[in-house]
Amino acid sequence: MKHPHTTVEAGAERALAHCEALARVSSLEGAIERVHLSPEHKVANALAAAWMSEAGLETWQDAAGNQCGRMEGSEPDLPALVLGSHLDTVTDAGRFDGMLGVMLAIEVADRIRRSGRQLPFALEVIGFTDEEGTRFGNALFGSRAFAGRWDEAWWDLEDRKGVSLRAAARVFGLEPELILDAARSPHELVGYLEAHIEQGPHLLDAERALAAVSSIAGARRFALTVTGNAGHAGGTPYARRRDALVGASEIIVEIERIAKATHTIATVGRVRAFPGGVNVVPGLARFSLDLRAEYDADRDAAWDQIDAFAQEVCARRGLGWKADQFYRADAVVCDPALRAAVEAGIRATGDAEPTVLWSRAGHDGMAVQAVTGFAMLFLRCGNDGISHHPDETVTTADVAAALDAFEAAVLAVADGYQR
Ligand code: HGY
Ligand code: MN
Ligand code: MN
Repeated sequence: MKHPHTTVEAGAERALAHCEALARVSSLEGAIERVHLSPEHKVANALAAAWMSEAGLETWQDAAGNQCGRMEGSEPDLPALVLGSHLDTVTDAGRFDGMLGVMLAIEVADRIRRSGRQLPFALEVIGFTDEEGTRFGNALFGSRAFAGRWDEAWWDLEDRKGVSLRAAARVFGLEPELILDAARSPHELVGYLEAHIEQGPHLLDAERALAAVSSIAGARRFALTVTGNAGHAGGTPYARRRDALVGASEIIVEIERIAKATHTIATVGRVRAFPGGVNVVPGLARFSLDLRAEYDADRDAAWDQIDAFAQEVCARRGLGWKADQFYRADAVVCDPALRAAVEAGIRATGDAEPTVLWSRAGHDGMAVQAVTGFAMLFLRCGNDGISHHPDETVTTADVAAALDAFEAAVLAVADGYQR
């Protein structure tokens, strides 16, 4: 039975209201930041758990700090179709990246429960933690634990205050020794569907509200270091300078040129010069690199070019070069059957030719695909597609369309499901 439009709008408005409530759960005054294993993480999980309960889900927090909810299908203990996204954020974040996907998942579960439809599988909702990697650098911790892809070495990672992941987990109330309890096995899962804002301008430019995702770009992230000699800003002649920041700057400009020439996407988001005095030639420069592409081979070839150029610049300038990779997640392709269900969901909203996009942004599906197939539904971002920024925005109408499409996608999975 198709819900009256007001129900969809009410669901969309409730999802947006819950995103506004989550936006107030931040470690920053006047900006949004909610990182892994923080007090804010705990508050957000409690809010999501309450909303999951209101939707009729049984709730629990898993051993990795993910917030989970479940409603049984036509009989108990059936494999689950999991709907969700992440509840953590970058620094100075928008209010929809991740959160809206979790809220839409809760609304879909609520609508299906109220419709009385008995699904041939259980329906689970998950609010992953640490998709962004804001606190400890590495990312996808919640979904990697869910997929049973945990690396014990991660426990020794430290945040900027020197707190290890292990210590932070204990303070949060988790037991690191039990992390494997979060791992799900393939036989208990039907698949994973995520709704997410596009985080780019393509749907805005195409004047479409929704898209099905074909694949997620693979990313590699590096901590890069150029070493030279600090010296007096006045007394050190150019011929005797080993200026680490000028060397790094030459490399950073070339990174953009190489990325454009190789159809990859490179971002230097953080640069620091040491010792940092205005009258001191920088003897050390550290900067980050986020490098991603639709195809891993393009990304890796671009990195090889960047690394070779940096070594040439440093040799020419008498500088040292060091590259440490701290994150890698390879490109993943959406499951064809689940993607077809997402496209069916988009058609159910009256869009007869669903737009298909590859995701330039990373998502938890990169980790989840190790344990089960996944697919994604994108919805349009306003404000020129801006994201990872407080001006991130969506319209209620697009959220209502996404809610309709998301529910229809779940029902399409059910209609085509053979145990
Ligand atoms: O970085 C990304 O693409 C994602 O938002 N974590
Ligand atoms: Mn993000
Ligand atoms: Mn996200």
